Amino acid sequence: MELLKKKIREEGIVLSEQVLKVDSFLNHQIDPVLMLEIGRTFAGLFADSDVTKVLTLESSGIAPAVMTALELKVNVIFARKRKSLTLRDGLFTEKVYSFTKQEESEVSVSGKFLSPGDRVLIVDDFLANGEAALAMARIAMQAQAEVAGIGIVIEKAFQPGGAKLREQGYRVESLARVASLGNGQVLFA
Ligand code: G4P
Ligand code: NA
Ligand code: NA
Repeated sequence: MELLKKKIREEGIVLSEQVLKVDSFLNHQIDPVLMLEIGRTFAGLFADSDVTKVLTLESSGIAPAVMTALELKVNVIFARKRKSLTLRDGLFTEKVYSFTKQEESEVSVSGKFLSPGDRVLIVDDFLANGEAALAMARIAMQAQAEVAGIGIVIEKAFQPGGAKLREQGYRVESLARVASLGNGQVLFA
């Protein structure tokens, strides 16, 4: 997606060979015009996938997921990282191991909002090691729902998540694929 790559080139900050900071439009401040374009692009890519729900993980996945769901005219669910007071029973919970943070956490979705027969489009802001996307896929499985596909805003193609998900048979569509972050430069695949 050209508009997204332009934004990354102009505003992305290479923090290290592993980490790209994009907090001016995706991870802190949000550019809604860009998010709407992202949503339209995912909706177009998955137009024939009979998506019934969009599933993401709080917090940075929510903006692109909402725009995608708006275009597909379906609801969006965000998995929660902390258990809420009102969210107790009938939870689908999965562990996520973050290699970046070197810690394990739990993510949960209420059983009320996912059902057998649902076709789930997983959307997330970044794909690195794929652990978050795999946890969401396992949540869909717990609900006996199908994963219709995985939409990623920025895939770090030099990390193993994309290959892992595609090997498992998931259709992964990434709007920008970063091949490397060497020499302080963003190189697209
Ligand atoms: P994985 O799910 O692919 O295995 O990724 P990982 O554990 O490495 O990611 C942990 C957090 O770091 C996630 O955000 C992920 O989106 C984010 N992340 C990973 N690589 C990058 C990067 O290069 N740049 C930026 N800006 N973020 C990256 P999170 O902790 O879930 O936070 P939130 O922003 O969704 O609240
Ligand atoms: Na993030
Ligand atoms: Na994320």
